[in-house]
Amino acid sequence: MYGHILIVDGDVSVRGKISDFLEEKGYSCKGVSNVKDALKEIEEGKYDLIIWDLRLPGLNGMEILKNLKKRDINIPVILTSTLKDINSVRAALKEGAVDYITKPIHYHDLENSVKFSLERKKLKEMEKQFKEKLEGEIERQKKKIHDQYLHGIIGLIKIVEERDQYTKGHSQRVSDLAVKIAVNMEMDNVMVTKVKIAGLLHDIGVIAIPDSILKKSGVLNKEEMSIVRKHPVIGVELLSYFISDNEILNIVKHHHERWDGKGYPDGLEGDAIPLGSRILAVADAYDAMTFPRPYREMFSKEEAIKELEKHSGSQFDREVVEKAVKIINTQA
Ligand SMILES: [Fe+2]
Ligand SMILES: [Fe+2]
Repeated sequence: MYGHILIVDGDVSVRGKISDFLEEKGYSCKGVSNVKDALKEIEEGKYDLIIWDLRLPGLNGMEILKNLKKRDINIPVILTSTLKDINSVRAALKEGAVDYITKPIHYHDLENSVKFSLERKKLKEMEKQFKEKLEGEIERQKKKIHDQYLHGIIGLIKIVEERDQYTKGHSQRVSDLAVKIAVNMEMDNVMVTKVKIAGLLHDIGVIAIPDSILKKSGVLNKEEMSIVRKHPVIGVELLSYFISDNEILNIVKHHHERWDGKGYPDGLEGDAIPLGSRILAVADAYDAMTFPRPYREMFSKEEAIKELEKHSGSQFDREVVEKAVKIINTQA
């Protein structure tokens, strides 16, 4: 039943009268005479309301309010007192008492106060439950929309890769290797997920590169190369319609930067390049080397590792290469 009330008062007759009156009104009551028993009851029982004597020795009304607040116990407290001191009333309400009743008690006032306090508590609980339910639902919907977007974008990546037999599966493989490197570099889970997503999407901007350049078997000329070099920025422009996370967008944007600052699009150098991009750069290069391309022979695992190590500290972050090589060597 809603309406379990704890009455804390040193006067046995006051306790008895309050208890009898409220039980007659349908509430269930328990009366205690001292602080020790009261705190034990609060600790163990499930009370909806406390009626506490302001002048109770040991822990007065004001102190119990502070005590409950400190322990994050949200049970409304009605204070009772023989004092008709407006300052005490004000202080008690300020401290969180739901009401203040003067003794001798007018039972009609007490009944109204109890009723009002319990209804307010119930409403607060309902509001809290509703808020939690709503927040949970919003989170679920947000995740659903996010997953749907991601599926859509990954679908788009597949279309891009389908255009060219040499890049099929490239993004997935880059993402997989990048995640392993990120975990090995002890990035936190949130960042690992961002690296994973950025890995899957890093070449989405390739969609804007014409087939004549994408599928060209010879070396690209200067003009063609400048078109190819636009793909990270175009990719970010496209992705920003779906993704608002700046860290993911930045990883994508800078996946062709070089440790020595000679990369693109911004010529960032060293630590100024997001770590996720430095990881993608290594994973990307390894995949490009170990899968066939129309313009050159495929590298063996050992040859690709040699290449990564050769450009470690110039093109690539040394630490990333070191971790990547360790991972690649353990792969079949
Ligand atoms: Fe790329
Ligand atoms: Fe790539």
